[in-house]
Amino acid sequence: MTVDTDVFEILHTMRAMRKLKKDPVPREMINKILDAGIRAPSGQNTQPWAFLVIEDEEGKNFFGERYNYWLKERFGERLKKTADNKEGRSIDAAVHLAENMHTAPVLLMVMGLRDWPFKVPKDERVGLAPPSYGSVYPCVQNILIACRALGLGASLTTMHQMFEEEIHDYYEIPKAYGIVSVIPVGFPTGNFGPVTREPISKKTHYGKWGFTK
Ligand SMILES: Cc1cc2nc3c(=O)[nH]c(=O)nc-3n(C[C@H](O)[C@H](O)[C@H](O)COP(=O)(O)O)c2cc1C
Repeated sequence: MTVDTDVFEILHTMRAMRKLKKDPVPREMINKILDAGIRAPSGQNTQPWAFLVIEDEEGKNFFGERYNYWLKERFGERLKKTADNKEGRSIDAAVHLAENMHTAPVLLMVMGLRDWPFKVPKDERVGLAPPSYGSVYPCVQNILIACRALGLGASLTTMHQMFEEEIHDYYEIPKAYGIVSVIPVGFPTGNFGPVTREPISKKTHYGKWGFTK
């Protein structure tokens, strides 16, 4: 197992890798990325995460079929590529992922214990609380970083929101857990490449809002 160790290089080249080979991912690697995940911080060190590693065909088909259906239902026309630029290629890749989700070697489901945000008064707490996102997304990000370091392709997905109840039933997940992200993992068909982001100068204020440098 070769490991990239330059953290800045990793962060600058950690694109959403949505085109994956079918080759299996060794269990040792899965354990390593999960072990990186659980090193994340969480509120009061509650460690509210839980993982479901889906590798069987039936389990992947169940998720893939619904993901593909809902991506198209939700975004419809917007998924039609209009230009061969970065955005167009991302759309293509997102559609490719949806259509091939079931062939990813591993679908890694990251869940979080539900927890009402402090600001919701006790008497207004009806229905199910959301998972404690702030205490699970650092874990998700650690997993993505670990995948990149190991040369594994991965991408953060959240389309499960459209069919979460079905997921709970099918995979027999306790209602106490909400699903935060499903990360398809496998060896990438393409290369890691630079991520494009707006510069910090467009996002940063100093002292008070509006004071830029
Ligand atoms: C909260 C969140 C939800 C996302 N949901 C999806 C998703 O459902 N499907 C998907 O293909 N990508 C999803 N993404 C990935 C983003 O589209 C991607 O990170 C963004 O376009 C930047 O792409 P890049 O990292 O390749 O530059 C999600 C990312 C975040 C942070």
